[in-house]
Amino acid sequence: MSKELIRLSDCVMSYDGDVVLDHINLYINDREFLTLLGPSGCGKTTTLRIIGGFLSPTAGDVFFDGVRINDVPPHKRAVNTVFQRYALFPHLNVFENVAFGLRIPRTETVEQGGKTVSKKLKLSKQEIYHRVMEMLEVVNLKGFEKRPISALSGGQQQRVAIARALVNRPKVLLLDEPLGALDMRLRKDMQGELKRIQQEMGITFIYVTHDQEEALAMSDTVVVMDQGKIQQIGTPEDIYNEPKNAFVADFIGESNILDGVMRADGVVEIFNRRFQCLDKGFGQDEPVDVVIRPEDVDIVDEGSGQLKGTVTAVTFKGVHYDTIVDFYGFKWLIQTTDFCPVGSNIGIKIDPDGIHVMKKSQYSGLFGDYSSYSEEYDEIGDVDYVPDEEEGGHHEE
Ligand SMILES: Nc1ncnc2c1ncn2[C@@H]1O[C@H](COP(=O)(O)OP(=O)(O)O)[C@@H](O)[C@H]1O
Ligand SMILES: [Mg+2]
Repeated sequence: MSKELIRLSDCVMSYDGDVVLDHINLYINDREFLTLLGPSGCGKTTTLRIIGGFLSPTAGDVFFDGVRINDVPPHKRAVNTVFQRYALFPHLNVFENVAFGLRIPRTETVEQGGKTVSKKLKLSKQEIYHRVMEMLEVVNLKGFEKRPISALSGGQQQRVAIARALVNRPKVLLLDEPLGALDMRLRKDMQGELKRIQQEMGITFIYVTHDQEEALAMSDTVVVMDQGKIQQIGTPEDIYNEPKNAFVADFIGESNILDGVMRADGVVEIFNRRFQCLDKGFGQDEPVDVVIRPEDVDIVDEGSGQLKGTVTAVTFKGVHYDTIVDFYGFKWLIQTTDFCPVGSNIGIKIDPDGIHVMKKSQYSGLFGDYSSYSEEYDEIGDVDYVPDEEEGGHHEE
Protein backbone atom coordinates (compact mmCIF):
# COMPACT_ATOMS: atom_id res chain seq x y z
CA MET A 1 0.00 0.00 0.00
CA SER A 2 0.92 3.67 -0.14
CA LYS A 3 3.64 4.92 2.06
CA GLU A 4 3.48 8.02 4.20
CA LEU A 5 5.48 10.89 2.71
CA ILE A 6 4.63 14.06 4.60
CA ARG A 7 3.32 14.59 8.10
CA LEU A 8 2.20 17.71 9.91
CA SER A 9 2.25 17.05 13.62
CA ASP A 10 0.38 19.45 15.92
CA CYS A 11 1.19 22.43 13.69
CA VAL A 12 0.16 25.80 15.04
CA MET A 13 0.57 29.10 13.23
CA SER A 14 -0.14 32.34 14.99
CA TYR A 15 0.46 35.97 14.20
CA ASP A 16 0.66 38.30 17.22
CA GLY A 17 -1.25 35.79 19.28
CA ASP A 18 -3.89 35.37 16.56
CA VAL A 19 -4.15 31.63 15.91
CA VAL A 20 -4.68 30.98 12.19
CA LEU A 21 -3.77 27.27 12.28
CA ASP A 22 -4.92 25.39 15.34
CA HIS A 23 -3.12 22.08 15.94
CA ILE A 24 -3.14 20.65 12.44
CA ASN A 25 -2.47 16.90 12.29
CA LEU A 26 -2.28 15.46 8.83
CA TYR A 27 -0.33 12.95 6.79
CA ILE A 28 -0.02 12.67 3.05
CA ASN A 29 0.86 9.43 1.29
CA ASP A 30 3.21 9.04 -1.64
CA ARG A 31 1.35 9.48 -4.96
CA GLU A 32 -1.78 10.73 -3.25
CA PHE A 33 -3.95 13.54 -4.62
CA LEU A 34 -4.90 15.38 -1.45
CA THR A 35 -7.00 18.54 -1.40
CA LEU A 36 -7.24 21.19 1.30
CA LEU A 37 -10.78 22.53 0.99
CA GLY A 38 -12.44 25.35 2.87
CA PRO A 39 -13.72 28.91 2.72
CA SER A 40 -11.43 31.88 2.19
CA GLY A 41 -9.30 32.61 5.25
CA CYS A 42 -9.58 29.12 6.79
CA GLY A 43 -5.80 28.52 6.60
CA LYS A 44 -5.29 26.55 3.37
CA THR A 45 -2.49 28.68 1.93
CA THR A 46 -0.78 28.88 5.32
CA THR A 47 -0.79 25.07 5.54
CA LEU A 48 0.60 24.77 2.01
CA ARG A 49 3.34 27.32 2.72
CA ILE A 50 4.40 25.36 5.79
CA ILE A 51 4.71 22.22 3.64
CA GLY A 52 6.61 24.16 0.97
CA GLY A 53 9.00 25.61 3.53
CA PHE A 54 8.06 29.26 2.97
CA LEU A 55 6.74 29.47 6.52
CA SER A 56 7.89 27.92 9.78
CA PRO A 57 5.09 26.85 12.11
CA THR A 58 4.90 28.65 15.46
CA ALA A 59 4.69 25.21 17.07
CA GLY A 60 4.65 21.64 15.84
CA ASP A 61 6.71 19.63 13.39
CA VAL A 62 6.84 18.89 9.69
CA PHE A 63 8.22 15.54 8.53
CA PHE A 64 9.26 14.43 5.06
CA ASP A 65 9.93 10.73 4.66
CA GLY A 66 10.21 10.47 8.43
CA VAL A 67 12.79 13.26 8.72
CA ARG A 68 11.97 16.50 10.54
CA ILE A 69 12.26 19.33 7.98
CA ASN A 70 11.08 22.38 9.94
CA ASP A 71 14.33 24.20 9.17
CA VAL A 72 14.91 22.97 5.61
CA PRO A 73 14.53 25.87 3.11
CA PRO A 74 12.12 25.52 0.15
CA HIS A 75 14.75 24.86 -2.53
CA LYS A 76 16.12 21.94 -0.54
CA ARG A 77 12.73 20.25 -0.25
CA ALA A 78 11.55 17.78 -2.90
CA VAL A 79 8.55 20.02 -3.34
CA ASN A 80 7.52 22.56 -5.97
CA THR A 81 4.65 25.02 -6.05
CA VAL A 82 2.20 26.31 -8.65
CA PHE A 83 0.59 29.53 -7.47
CA GLN A 84 -2.70 31.01 -8.57
CA ARG A 85 -0.86 33.98 -10.09
CA TYR A 86 1.62 31.84 -11.90
CA ALA A 87 3.83 34.68 -13.13
CA LEU A 88 5.29 33.36 -16.37
CA PHE A 89 8.00 35.43 -18.02
CA PRO A 90 6.23 37.40 -20.75
CA HIS A 91 9.44 38.09 -22.70
CA LEU A 92 10.39 34.41 -22.89
CA ASN A 93 8.76 31.79 -25.12
CA VAL A 94 7.12 28.60 -23.91
CA PHE A 95 10.32 26.55 -24.10
CA GLU A 96 12.39 29.06 -22.13
CA ASN A 97 9.70 29.47 -19.48
CA VAL A 98 9.76 25.74 -18.80
CA ALA A 99 13.56 25.47 -19.10
CA PHE A 100 13.89 28.22 -16.49
CA GLY A 101 12.91 25.70 -13.83
CA LEU A 102 15.98 23.65 -14.79
CA ARG A 103 18.45 26.52 -15.08
CA ILE A 104 17.96 27.94 -11.61
CA PRO A 105 20.35 26.20 -9.23
CA ARG A 106 18.55 23.74 -7.05
CA THR A 107 18.84 20.33 -5.54
CA GLU A 108 16.84 17.40 -6.75
CA THR A 109 15.90 14.29 -4.86
CA VAL A 110 16.44 10.82 -6.17
CA GLU A 111 15.70 7.37 -4.85
CA GLN A 112 18.84 5.53 -3.77
CA GLY A 113 18.57 2.17 -2.06
CA GLY A 114 15.00 2.84 -0.96
CA LYS A 115 15.91 6.21 0.60
CA THR A 116 15.36 9.68 -0.81
CA VAL A 117 18.62 11.63 -1.15
CA SER A 118 19.33 15.15 -2.39
CA LYS A 119 21.59 15.79 -5.35
CA LYS A 120 22.93 19.06 -6.81
CA LEU A 121 21.44 19.56 -10.22
CA LYS A 122 23.54 20.42 -13.25
CA LEU A 123 22.20 19.50 -16.64
CA SER A 124 23.64 19.56 -20.15
CA LYS A 125 21.94 21.59 -22.88
CA GLN A 126 20.80 18.39 -24.49
CA GLU A 127 19.29 17.06 -21.31
CA ILE A 128 17.48 20.35 -20.71
CA TYR A 129 16.05 20.14 -24.22
CA HIS A 130 14.96 16.56 -23.70
CA ARG A 131 13.32 17.25 -20.34
CA VAL A 132 11.47 20.37 -21.52
CA MET A 133 10.10 18.60 -24.59
CA GLU A 134 9.03 15.64 -22.50
CA MET A 135 7.19 17.96 -20.11
CA LEU A 136 5.49 19.89 -22.93
CA GLU A 137 4.20 16.57 -24.18
CA VAL A 138 2.80 15.72 -20.73
CA VAL A 139 0.88 19.01 -20.57
CA ASN A 140 -0.28 18.74 -24.21
CA LEU A 141 1.73 21.69 -25.48
CA LYS A 142 3.93 19.93 -28.01
CA GLY A 143 4.52 22.23 -30.98
CA PHE A 144 4.06 25.36 -28.85
CA GLU A 145 7.67 25.67 -27.72
CA LYS A 146 8.47 28.78 -29.80
CA ARG A 147 5.22 30.58 -28.98
CA PRO A 148 5.47 33.79 -26.99
CA ILE A 149 3.58 33.60 -23.69
CA SER A 150 1.38 36.52 -24.80
CA ALA A 151 0.04 34.39 -27.67
CA LEU A 152 -1.37 31.71 -25.35
CA SER A 153 -4.83 31.33 -23.85
CA GLY A 154 -5.29 31.32 -20.07
CA GLY A 155 -5.53 27.54 -20.03
CA GLN A 156 -2.35 27.15 -22.09
CA GLN A 157 -0.49 29.54 -19.79
CA GLN A 158 -1.62 27.47 -16.82
CA ARG A 159 -0.20 24.37 -18.53
CA VAL A 160 3.13 26.14 -19.01
CA ALA A 161 3.18 27.00 -15.30
CA ILE A 162 2.52 23.35 -14.44
CA ALA A 163 5.23 22.14 -16.84
CA ARG A 164 7.69 24.60 -15.30
CA ALA A 165 6.93 23.31 -11.81
CA LEU A 166 7.14 19.66 -12.85
CA VAL A 167 10.23 19.82 -15.02
CA ASN A 168 12.65 19.35 -12.15
CA ARG A 169 10.78 16.27 -11.05
CA PRO A 170 9.60 17.17 -7.57
CA LYS A 171 8.22 14.33 -5.48
CA VAL A 172 5.41 16.61 -4.42
CA LEU A 173 3.62 19.37 -6.28
CA LEU A 174 1.78 22.00 -4.25
CA LEU A 175 -0.99 23.79 -6.13
CA ASP A 176 -2.67 26.85 -4.61
CA GLU A 177 -5.98 27.49 -6.37
CA PRO A 178 -4.21 27.06 -9.73
CA LEU A 179 -7.42 27.18 -11.78
CA GLY A 180 -8.86 30.24 -10.05
CA ALA A 181 -8.24 32.54 -12.99
CA LEU A 182 -9.86 30.28 -15.58
CA ASP A 183 -13.48 30.25 -16.69
CA MET A 184 -15.79 27.40 -15.71
CA ARG A 185 -15.45 25.32 -18.88
CA LEU A 186 -11.67 25.52 -18.91
CA ARG A 187 -11.55 24.71 -15.20
CA LYS A 188 -13.42 21.47 -15.82
CA ASP A 189 -11.05 20.51 -18.66
CA MET A 190 -7.99 21.34 -16.58
CA GLN A 191 -9.30 19.33 -13.61
CA GLY A 192 -9.24 16.23 -15.78
CA GLU A 193 -5.82 17.17 -17.16
CA LEU A 194 -4.31 17.67 -13.70
CA LYS A 195 -5.58 14.31 -12.51
CA ARG A 196 -4.14 12.64 -15.61
CA ILE A 197 -0.76 14.37 -15.17
CA GLN A 198 -0.61 13.41 -11.50
CA GLN A 199 -1.29 9.76 -12.30
CA GLU A 200 0.95 9.64 -15.35
CA MET A 201 3.91 11.09 -13.46
CA GLY A 202 3.18 9.14 -10.29
CA ILE A 203 3.75 12.09 -7.96
CA THR A 204 1.98 13.52 -4.94
CA PHE A 205 -0.32 16.51 -5.42
CA ILE A 206 -1.39 18.73 -2.55
CA TYR A 207 -4.09 20.94 -3.96
CA VAL A 208 -5.81 23.96 -2.43
CA THR A 209 -9.27 25.08 -3.45
CA HIS A 210 -12.43 26.64 -2.02
CA ASP A 211 -14.47 24.89 -4.73
CA GLN A 212 -16.08 21.74 -3.36
CA GLU A 213 -16.99 20.32 -6.75
CA GLU A 214 -13.39 20.59 -7.84
CA ALA A 215 -12.24 18.87 -4.66
CA LEU A 216 -14.69 15.99 -5.05
CA ALA A 217 -13.86 15.50 -8.73
CA MET A 218 -10.09 15.23 -8.42
CA SER A 219 -9.04 14.06 -4.98
CA ASP A 220 -8.17 10.75 -3.36
CA THR A 221 -8.44 12.50 0.00
CA VAL A 222 -10.20 15.73 0.95
CA VAL A 223 -9.28 17.73 4.07
CA VAL A 224 -12.11 20.09 4.99
CA MET A 225 -10.94 23.12 6.98
CA ASP A 226 -12.65 25.99 8.75
CA GLN A 227 -11.28 28.63 11.11
CA GLY A 228 -7.80 27.14 11.18
CA LYS A 229 -9.02 23.70 12.15
CA ILE A 230 -9.43 20.45 10.27
CA GLN A 231 -13.13 19.58 10.31
CA GLN A 232 -12.91 16.26 8.49
CA ILE A 233 -10.51 14.13 6.47
CA GLY A 234 -11.81 11.47 4.11
CA THR A 235 -12.44 10.27 0.59
CA PRO A 236 -14.82 12.42 -1.48
CA GLU A 237 -17.53 9.79 -0.88
CA ASP A 238 -16.97 9.83 2.92
CA ILE A 239 -17.11 13.58 3.09
CA TYR A 240 -20.30 13.75 1.04
CA ASN A 241 -22.15 10.79 2.52
CA GLU A 242 -20.94 10.93 6.11
CA PRO A 243 -20.24 14.57 6.97
CA LYS A 244 -18.93 14.94 10.54
CA ASN A 245 -20.80 18.11 11.39
CA ALA A 246 -23.16 20.77 10.03
CA PHE A 247 -20.28 22.81 8.61
CA VAL A 248 -19.05 19.97 6.41
CA ALA A 249 -22.60 18.99 5.40
CA ASP A 250 -23.35 22.55 4.37
CA PHE A 251 -20.04 23.23 2.63
CA ILE A 252 -20.07 20.03 0.57
CA GLY A 253 -23.06 19.93 -1.74
CA GLU A 254 -26.58 21.01 -0.85
CA SER A 255 -28.05 19.87 2.45
CA ASN A 256 -31.20 20.20 4.48
CA ILE A 257 -29.98 20.20 8.08
CA LEU A 258 -32.62 19.68 10.75
CA ASP A 259 -32.87 19.37 14.49
CA GLY A 260 -33.61 15.84 15.57
CA VAL A 261 -33.69 13.60 18.60
CA MET A 262 -32.26 10.09 18.60
CA ARG A 263 -34.96 7.86 20.11
CA ALA A 264 -33.12 4.55 19.68
CA ASP A 265 -30.51 2.94 17.45
CA GLY A 266 -31.85 3.39 13.92
CA VAL A 267 -34.71 5.71 14.93
CA VAL A 268 -34.52 9.51 14.73
CA GLU A 269 -37.33 11.95 15.37
CA ILE A 270 -37.75 15.06 13.21
CA PHE A 271 -40.78 17.39 13.54
CA ASN A 272 -42.23 14.90 16.06
CA ARG A 273 -42.24 12.15 13.43
CA ARG A 274 -40.07 9.06 13.75
CA PHE A 275 -37.87 8.10 10.81
CA GLN A 276 -35.85 4.96 10.29
CA CYS A 277 -32.18 5.58 9.73
CA LEU A 278 -28.96 3.56 9.72
CA ASP A 279 -27.19 5.53 12.46
CA LYS A 280 -26.38 3.94 15.80
CA GLY A 281 -24.49 4.56 19.00
CA PHE A 282 -26.03 7.85 20.10
CA GLY A 283 -27.38 8.40 23.59
CA GLN A 284 -31.04 7.75 24.38
CA ASP A 285 -32.97 10.94 23.41
CA GLU A 286 -29.74 12.70 22.41
CA PRO A 287 -30.37 15.91 20.42
CA VAL A 288 -28.68 15.61 17.02
CA ASP A 289 -28.31 17.32 13.65
CA VAL A 290 -29.88 15.44 10.76
CA VAL A 291 -28.73 15.85 7.15
CA ILE A 292 -31.03 15.03 4.28
CA ARG A 293 -29.64 15.56 0.79
CA PRO A 294 -32.03 17.17 -1.73
CA GLU A 295 -31.78 14.19 -4.10
CA ASP A 296 -32.70 11.67 -1.39
CA VAL A 297 -36.25 12.94 -0.90
CA ASP A 298 -39.09 11.28 -2.83
CA ILE A 299 -42.18 13.31 -3.51
CA VAL A 300 -45.41 11.36 -3.02
CA ASP A 301 -49.05 12.40 -2.67
CA GLU A 302 -50.01 14.32 0.41
CA GLY A 303 -51.85 11.46 2.09
CA SER A 304 -49.08 8.90 1.93
CA GLY A 305 -46.09 11.04 2.90
CA GLN A 306 -44.04 10.85 6.09
CA LEU A 307 -44.24 14.66 6.19
CA LYS A 308 -46.57 17.12 4.47
CA GLY A 309 -45.46 20.43 3.00
CA THR A 310 -46.26 23.18 0.52
CA VAL A 311 -44.17 24.04 -2.53
CA THR A 312 -43.01 27.67 -2.39
CA ALA A 313 -40.64 27.88 -5.39
CA VAL A 314 -39.59 25.81 -8.38
CA THR A 315 -36.58 26.27 -10.64
CA PHE A 316 -36.01 24.17 -13.76
CA LYS A 317 -32.40 22.93 -13.78
CA GLY A 318 -32.33 20.76 -16.85
CA VAL A 319 -31.97 17.33 -15.25
CA HIS A 320 -34.27 18.10 -12.32
CA TYR A 321 -36.35 20.78 -10.63
CA ASP A 322 -35.00 22.54 -7.57
CA THR A 323 -38.15 22.59 -5.49
CA ILE A 324 -38.38 24.54 -2.24
CA VAL A 325 -40.90 23.03 0.14
CA ASP A 326 -42.14 24.56 3.39
CA PHE A 327 -42.53 22.02 6.21
CA TYR A 328 -43.94 23.64 9.33
CA GLY A 329 -42.05 26.89 8.62
CA PHE A 330 -38.73 25.20 7.74
CA LYS A 331 -37.81 25.30 4.08
CA TRP A 332 -36.18 22.32 2.38
CA LEU A 333 -34.55 22.01 -1.00
CA ILE A 334 -35.71 18.92 -2.89
CA GLN A 335 -34.27 17.93 -6.24
CA THR A 336 -36.80 15.96 -8.22
CA THR A 337 -37.73 15.13 -11.79
CA ASP A 338 -41.40 15.47 -10.81
CA PHE A 339 -42.78 18.92 -11.48
CA CYS A 340 -44.83 20.22 -8.54
CA PRO A 341 -46.25 23.70 -9.10
CA VAL A 342 -45.90 26.46 -6.52
CA GLY A 343 -48.70 26.23 -4.00
CA SER A 344 -49.23 22.48 -4.30
CA ASN A 345 -49.37 20.37 -1.16
CA ILE A 346 -47.14 17.35 -1.27
CA GLY A 347 -45.95 14.47 0.86
CA ILE A 348 -42.40 13.15 1.08
CA LYS A 349 -40.72 9.84 1.77
CA ILE A 350 -37.12 9.32 2.79
CA ASP A 351 -35.41 5.94 2.80
CA PRO A 352 -33.34 5.06 5.89
CA ASP A 353 -30.08 5.47 3.95
CA GLY A 354 -31.14 8.97 2.87
CA ILE A 355 -30.92 10.15 6.48
CA HIS A 356 -27.58 10.93 8.09
CA VAL A 357 -27.33 11.74 11.81
CA MET A 358 -24.52 13.89 13.25
CA LYS A 359 -23.46 14.97 16.72
CA LYS A 360 -24.39 18.49 17.73
CA SER A 361 -21.46 20.91 17.26
CA GLN A 362 -20.59 24.60 17.38
CA TYR A 363 -22.07 24.73 13.85
CA SER A 364 -25.52 23.45 14.87
CA GLY A 365 -28.35 25.77 13.89
CA LEU A 366 -26.18 27.86 11.59
CA PHE A 367 -26.90 26.11 8.31
CA GLY A 368 -29.36 24.04 6.38
CA ASP A 369 -32.54 26.08 6.02
CA TYR A 370 -33.46 27.27 2.55
CA SER A 371 -35.61 30.28 3.50
CA SER A 372 -33.29 32.92 2.13
CA TYR A 373 -32.54 30.68 -0.83
CA SER A 374 -36.21 30.58 -1.79
CA GLU A 375 -36.58 34.36 -1.66
CA GLU A 376 -33.71 34.54 -4.08
CA TYR A 377 -35.48 31.95 -6.20
CA ASP A 378 -38.70 33.98 -6.22
CA GLU A 379 -36.81 36.79 -7.87
CA ILE A 380 -34.62 34.96 -10.33
CA GLY A 381 -36.25 31.55 -10.54
CA ASP A 382 -38.34 30.38 -13.45
CA VAL A 383 -41.45 29.99 -11.29
CA ASP A 384 -43.88 30.57 -14.13
CA TYR A 385 -42.47 27.65 -16.08
CA VAL A 386 -45.29 25.31 -17.11
CA PRO A 387 -44.20 21.96 -18.52
CA ASP A 388 -45.95 19.98 -21.25
CA GLU A 389 -49.22 18.33 -20.23
CA GLU A 390 -47.63 14.90 -20.36
CA GLU A 391 -44.93 15.75 -17.84
CA GLY A 392 -47.19 17.99 -15.77
CA GLY A 393 -48.71 17.36 -12.38
CA HIS A 394 -46.82 15.36 -9.88
CA HIS A 395 -46.30 11.70 -10.38
CA GLU A 396 -46.84 9.21 -7.67
CA GLU A 397 -44.38 6.44 -7.13
N1 LIG B 1 1.42 37.17 7.44
C1 LIG B 1 0.23 37.17 8.07
N2 LIG B 1 0.01 37.96 9.12
C2 LIG B 1 -1.19 37.94 9.76
N3 LIG B 1 -2.21 37.17 9.43
C3 LIG B 1 -2.06 36.35 8.38
C4 LIG B 1 -0.83 36.31 7.64
N4 LIG B 1 -0.97 35.39 6.65
C5 LIG B 1 -2.22 34.91 6.78
N5 LIG B 1 -2.89 35.48 7.81
C6 LIG B 1 -4.26 35.18 8.23
O1 LIG B 1 -4.37 33.79 8.40
C7 LIG B 1 -5.65 33.34 8.02
C8 LIG B 1 -5.53 32.19 7.04
O2 LIG B 1 -5.01 32.69 5.82
P1 LIG B 1 -4.78 31.77 4.55
O3 LIG B 1 -4.00 30.59 4.95
O4 LIG B 1 -4.23 32.62 3.48
O5 LIG B 1 -6.27 31.33 4.21
P2 LIG B 1 -6.85 30.65 2.87
O6 LIG B 1 -5.73 30.29 1.96
O7 LIG B 1 -7.61 29.46 3.38
O8 LIG B 1 -7.79 31.65 2.27
C9 LIG B 1 -6.40 34.54 7.48
O9 LIG B 1 -7.23 35.03 8.48
C10 LIG B 1 -5.28 35.51 7.17
O10 LIG B 1 -5.74 36.83 7.29
MG1 LIG C 1 -5.34 30.95 0.01
